[in-house]
Amino acid sequence: MKKIIITIDGFSSCGKSTLAKQLANKLNYTFIDSGAMYRAITLYFLWNHIDWENTGEVVTALENINLEFQYNPSAEKSDIYLNDENVEMLIRDMLVSENVSAVATIKEVREFAVAQQQKMGKKKGIVMDGRDIGTTVFPQAALKIFVTADPTVRVERRFKELFETNPNITIEEVKNNLEMRDYIDSNREVSPLRKAEDAVVLDNSNLTREEQLNIALKWAKEKME
Ligand code: DC
Repeated sequence: MKKIIITIDGFSSCGKSTLAKQLANKLNYTFIDSGAMYRAITLYFLWNHIDWENTGEVVTALENINLEFQYNPSAEKSDIYLNDENVEMLIRDMLVSENVSAVATIKEVREFAVAQQQKMGKKKGIVMDGRDIGTTVFPQAALKIFVTADPTVRVERRFKELFETNPNITIEEVKNNLEMRDYIDSNREVSPLRKAEDAVVLDNSNLTREEQLNIALKWAKEKME
């Protein structure tokens, strides 16, 4: 079976990462969460009080950012390291979620992230999830999946996930954050969130994780043969 590139794009909290991780584990592929890269850059900007409206400051800051993924066997996926520090948990913070979409609109930030993502795909055998993976990062990918889910289902899923570490969080806050991110991600100038023309749509509103995985696995195997 040949090694391929699989891209998974879609709105926030559609279960893209869950699917990408399961798919990568089944196929023995590398899973890359491209959103983690935008989140880690945002964390760096927040920690270092970078004014991201100022292009000069952004460019200098990016020169000082080193991002790496290292496999974490207990999580069965890679954790992201920002300048040698594991920030996998810190990047899920609400403050990062509130600012990441704005940071991800910046052309220099996207060029920085996309160049590294493309390098990671050189050897194929990769599942990458994000917003522009099928359209901009790997337009030639063999399998492109566009995941969707009912907005109410997405808010509930995300709320449950965040509530585990932050019991003070409200449904309203989660809903507002998702709506805001989807709006910014879909309307930005540089590589906005779009379904690639040749992507297959997977609506998982009424699917279990196993059902969703089986559909995607079938598609992947067809492309790998
Ligand atoms: O997948 P996520 O929710 O962790 O992504 C965080 C943000 O990063 C998301 O709101 C938009 C941005 N992003 C992006 O612009 N392009 C990607 N390929 C991945 C994420």
